[in-house]
Amino acid sequence: MKVIQSVKEMQSEALKLCREGKKVVLVPTMGALHEAHLKLLEEGKKAGDILVLSIFVNPTQFGPAEDFDRYPKEIESDLQKARDLEVDITFIPNTKDIYPESYQTYVNVEEITKNLCGLSRPGHFTGVATVVLKLFNIVQPEIAIFGEKDYQQLQVIRRMATDLNVPTEIRSIPTVGEENGLAMSSRNKYLTPEERTAALSINQSLSLAQKRVDSGEKNAEKIILEIKEKIEKTGLLKIDYVSICDPETLEDIETLKKPALLAIAVKTASARLIDNAILRPKQ
Ligand code: PAF
Repeated sequence: MKVIQSVKEMQSEALKLCREGKKVVLVPTMGALHEAHLKLLEEGKKAGDILVLSIFVNPTQFGPAEDFDRYPKEIESDLQKARDLEVDITFIPNTKDIYPESYQTYVNVEEITKNLCGLSRPGHFTGVATVVLKLFNIVQPEIAIFGEKDYQQLQVIRRMATDLNVPTEIRSIPTVGEENGLAMSSRNKYLTPEERTAALSINQSLSLAQKRVDSGEKNAEKIILEIKEKIEKTGLLKIDYVSICDPETLEDIETLKKPALLAIAVKTASARLIDNAILRPKQ
């Protein structure tokens, strides 16, 4: 496995691979690789000729009061996992190379960043769209793969790629849960055992909502209220949002007539956790 740190070197490697007609697949991450990342890499391995893993904790997607400084960094074990999965190139750029001193260009996806995480994390998706476009320009992947746990992020990246005529195909894989159903996230490391137990109410709420929908409930507000009560009862989770919205536009909906996104974000004392599911009413 090649480990590349310089943007210039990665770009000339990408050019060489392109001239050789190789299908390059990119899995962008911020490191601290867990089972869900490994699933992305396994999918990436099957999808093309050359699998590139990028590891970059992107400062522009963190707010001033967020966890940038303490975001888990496990570079040696990440590299070992990448070798085990036969990743071809791990690209680990440094911040100065991605955002040099005079840096001043950002990608702003407008409408679908206004709701959900965009409300409580202003600027977050500008940071995500900017770094993902930069990674695409550096690595030149034919395919890039993301997780569906970050549903809004995935939609933002798809929108950015469509709007800016980026030729990379955006693929996704379903959320990977721990044995108990908690969606895998590098931030789960911050949780105390009690918070971990309380956090199970997120995934349980997703199943509960589908049950209500199966038994004919169409009123989004009613389902949201029941979920909020369930989560608040744990006493350890503060609700950021519980939203039932259109899966494309992410605008809130009142009545479930077609598949809708149920998205949940909560905060513990030390972490912010998200998960989502598509609710499917009977036709
Ligand atoms: O999902 C992540 O890990 C990050 O937001 C991403 C897509 C790698 C951009 O920094």
